[in-house]
Amino acid sequence: MAPKLILTGFMATGKSAVGRAAAARLGWRLVDSDAELVARAGKPIPAIFAEHGEARFRALEREVIAGLASDPNRCPQCGAPRPAVISTGGGALVDERNYAALKRAGLIICLSARPEVIAARVRRSPHARPKLLEGGKPLEVRIAELMEERRAAYARADFNVDTSDLSVVESAERVLAIFARRGRSAHRCAPSA
Ligand code: S3P
Repeated sequence: MAPKLILTGFMATGKSAVGRAAAARLGWRLVDSDAELVARAGKPIPAIFAEHGEARFRALEREVIAGLASDPNRCPQCGAPRPAVISTGGGALVDERNYAALKRAGLIICLSARPEVIAARVRRSPHARPKLLEGGKPLEVRIAELMEERRAAYARADFNVDTSDLSVVESAERVLAIFARRGRSAHRCAPSA
């Protein structure tokens, strides 16, 4: 198993925050696929959706994930693939090619949360999420609908952690416990920069 810990799952389930906490505990770098995509596009996600459409956003997302998943960097000491925590955007796993690339790269842990918890987090969040504005529906209705559409895609992850009633630190502990049991490779060198 390549030493990547991959966090995916619906919007506002804690992927970035839990990814940061898990990466800090492991002493590994955190790579956020949305942040990479925004840097590459030179504009924020809502602008990509508005100016170029979702298809362009998904094409960029595929490029970024393919790059992250096939990270050619090797540990200079032992030659093993460099470890990392990767957090993806909420729709990434829906794409077959993303799923296949991530599956080859490491252990996929899906974060989930109850729809009402997601709605509360989205309302508190400063990030605009174009997928939740589609159809002009009430937030809870749109979340439930999209979650149902993506149920099968998320079910392909290796593990699921429901973060509804957990703090970021508790969620990261669950993730790390799973990873320690199932994902950790034989990589024994010092943390990568
Ligand atoms: C999306 C989730 C977002 C971002 C984009 C599309 C989705 O990421 O990639 O707005 O389709 O679920 P977060 O899950 O980090 O909000």
